[in-house]
Amino acid sequence: MRKNVVAGNWKMNTTLQEGVKLAEDVNEALKNVDAKCDVVICVPFTHLASVNAVIDPAKLGLGAENCADHVKGAYTGEISAPMVASTGATYVILGHSERRQYYGETSETLKEKVNLALANNLTPIFCIGEVLEQRENGSYLEVVKSQIEEALFELSAEDFSKLILAYEPVWAIGTGKTATDDQAQEMHAFIRGVIADKYGKEVADNTSILYGGSCKPSNAKALFAKPDVDGGLIGGAALEAESFMGIVTAF
Ligand code: PGA
Repeated sequence: MRKNVVAGNWKMNTTLQEGVKLAEDVNEALKNVDAKCDVVICVPFTHLASVNAVIDPAKLGLGAENCADHVKGAYTGEISAPMVASTGATYVILGHSERRQYYGETSETLKEKVNLALANNLTPIFCIGEVLEQRENGSYLEVVKSQIEEALFELSAEDFSKLILAYEPVWAIGTGKTATDDQAQEMHAFIRGVIADKYGKEVADNTSILYGGSCKPSNAKALFAKPDVDGGLIGGAALEAESFMGIVTAF
């Protein structure tokens, strides 16, 4: 059966020293709870190796927030999937709406990134989600379906099974405006149906689909109680160990 996952997305926050301290705090807090989900922190590239050195990989997974769409070479400033993997990280967020919006990432580049992540044994946490206008004009289901089809449907069933998906309505990210648990459930069930149509029910049932967008301790329980919501991708609330743990323990 699919796993429940709570993953932090630190974005461009914390210095190296602050990040190592936050990772230590989360790692410490996890010793005292019987987490009913996999717990992951996705941190800036500069922090990966140092954070990896202070966490217990049996309790806390580590991921990057992006990787390049090329394996190596003359791409100044880029960080490749093999580089990420060489730090000890085993996850990578791909296709976050901020990458799509501010850095022009398209389904074509994301396809390459997913392939390279998988080839380097990184588990992609692949983000999809509509903007407010698409929510309001009723096209949101089709938009998300296209994002999945365009970037992921050339994968074999075996490779697709290695992914984690994260539904993040763009209008809910960092805005304090959360999708209601019913809105999340509607989309998650729809996504599972899209996967089932392509790869069959078993693959769909085994795919973890996380919700992201202003998820916090106060709303996590209701969201995670929905049958197709398998956890969360957490931005702002992942920047303090206490609020992050409040979401981890919502399962
Ligand atoms: P947020 O961010 O929890 O701050 O809304 C979520 C995300 O963008 O992954």
